[in-house]
Amino acid sequence: MTQKVLITGAAGQLGRELLRTAPAGVDCIAATRESLDIADAEQVNTLLREQRPSLVINAAAYTAVDRAESEQEMAQAINGEGAGNLAGACAENAARLIHVSTDFVFDGASSTPYLPDAPTSPLGEYGRSKLAGEQAVATRLPSALIIRTAWVYSAFGSNFVKTMLRLMAERDEISVVADQVGSPTWARGLAESLWLAADLPEFQGFGHWTDAGVCSWYDFAVAIAEEAAELGLLTGMPLIHPIPGSAYPTPAARPAFSVLDKYSTWEALQTEGLHWRTQLRSMLKELKESSFE
Ligand SMILES: NC(=O)c1ccc[n+]([C@@H]2O[C@H](COP(=O)([O-])OP(=O)(O)OC[C@H]3O[C@@H](n4cnc5c(N)ncnc54)[C@H](OP(=O)(O)O)[C@@H]3O)[C@@H](O)[C@H]2O)c1
Repeated sequence: MTQKVLITGAAGQLGRELLRTAPAGVDCIAATRESLDIADAEQVNTLLREQRPSLVINAAAYTAVDRAESEQEMAQAINGEGAGNLAGACAENAARLIHVSTDFVFDGASSTPYLPDAPTSPLGEYGRSKLAGEQAVATRLPSALIIRTAWVYSAFGSNFVKTMLRLMAERDEISVVADQVGSPTWARGLAESLWLAADLPEFQGFGHWTDAGVCSWYDFAVAIAEEAAELGLLTGMPLIHPIPGSAYPTPAARPAFSVLDKYSTWEALQTEGLHWRTQLRSMLKELKESSFE
């Protein structure tokens, strides 16, 4: 039987990968920000009533981490209330919800990977708004699945990998923060893991998904340069300097340690993530063969 799945934020990194990897037998309703503003409860209710999806995957979010410091209301309206609107409409229309959240709900003070039930303590407005979304979803639809992820990139949109490639092509030397560690995540692998979760209605509550392995932003940049040069995406090899986060101040503080413990999710999905460097190579190959913006 065909499963009808509403994908919000369909033009974003994850949204586009969800559409590209949708399994056979899934009828996707792709809702971009233009066709569905999740912050508008009435729009959300109407769409769910009319379309009656059996599952909603929320890939829509306000993701401008630094801008959120001065746009708290908008971040809360989308990431907090918007997520709650979807959960409320799913509850009313007997739809399941898979909601996506972030490592930024944690403060990064841990020295061991964060378990899905670890105490949250966001450092900035983006993390606070995403935490409000998690709480709204868990309250309004306890059967929802909330998957936290981190350091997401893809061939679409703007992200760390594409910014590094641009800077590396323009400059002989760049400096990259070396004292913040986490796990890069190709949106493709995240999308595939969410489709596995789509088939497991008993998988509820909180889960974590990133690619496997850990690195600093500096290590990630070095790997991007090496892999891109190997593929002919870069002509020269820039000098990459490791710097402390204190030398690159940003409006929003970032967690120093952003590693998520994924074992319970791997067990639930009966699959484990690929190493981040393998995924990076695959994404760069795709970038080379395509003309995505
Ligand atoms: N990117 C990361 O590094 C990262 C890390 C951890 C967790 N996450 C989470 O992963 C999920 C997917 O992120 P992503 O990287 O795919 O983000 P993204 O590329 O920024 O995509 C988010 C999409 O949501 C849309 N959107 C924004 N406000 C909306 C609204 N009010 N109603 C409907 N759609 C709206 C955006 O449209 P516009 O572009 O027009 O605003 C965009 O198309 C999010 O929940 C994010 O919080 C991301």
